[in-house]
Amino acid sequence: MPSPTALTPRCTTVSGRSLATAPYIDVLKSLGARVRLYDESAGELLDVAALTRELPHGSTVYHCGPAGLMAAVEEATAGWDTDKVRSESFGGDVPVDGTTLGDPFEVELAYSGGKVVQVGSDETMLRALLREKAPVDYSCEAGECGTCILDYRNGSVEHRDTVLEDDERGEMMTPCVSRARGRIVIDL
Ligand code: FES
Repeated sequence: MPSPTALTPRCTTVSGRSLATAPYIDVLKSLGARVRLYDESAGELLDVAALTRELPHGSTVYHCGPAGLMAAVEEATAGWDTDKVRSESFGGDVPVDGTTLGDPFEVELAYSGGKVVQVGSDETMLRALLREKAPVDYSCEAGECGTCILDYRNGSVEHRDTVLEDDERGEMMTPCVSRARGRIVIDL
């Protein structure tokens, strides 16, 4: 786990799927105790609520990242003065419970014995796959970075990303934002 450095108003916390491939990691490490690093691939999970409780009174939180992380920070800081919680979103609205993202559909995992995952109208395909423990990498959850791109074979896809080229859309999709109709077959 990261070193238990006391948080200060100038402390930075960085969490990543794998710090081995994270950009600027050497620069961040060179900052020493002012940075806490969490490597999800090593089982180090960021507990946003616990981290927020450690902050000295009057702290200001600046946050950006995947939609799920930003939602967790907003929840942990609910009730704070609004000028004490600053964020920058790179896109990708956080689905609010009950929000309809589109029609439900099914995802068949070709390399997992034909297992079928149901994607509800209020969840993304990425979140449905992660719920079923499918091995999908992701980062922005906004259709912008390309980390989650999957190959698909059969099915009709409604592409909502900004990362794929037109000539790629016939066989690739971004499950963090894009949806399908009926059933889609993917190479997972
Ligand atoms: S996670 Fe970035 S495009 Fe899907």
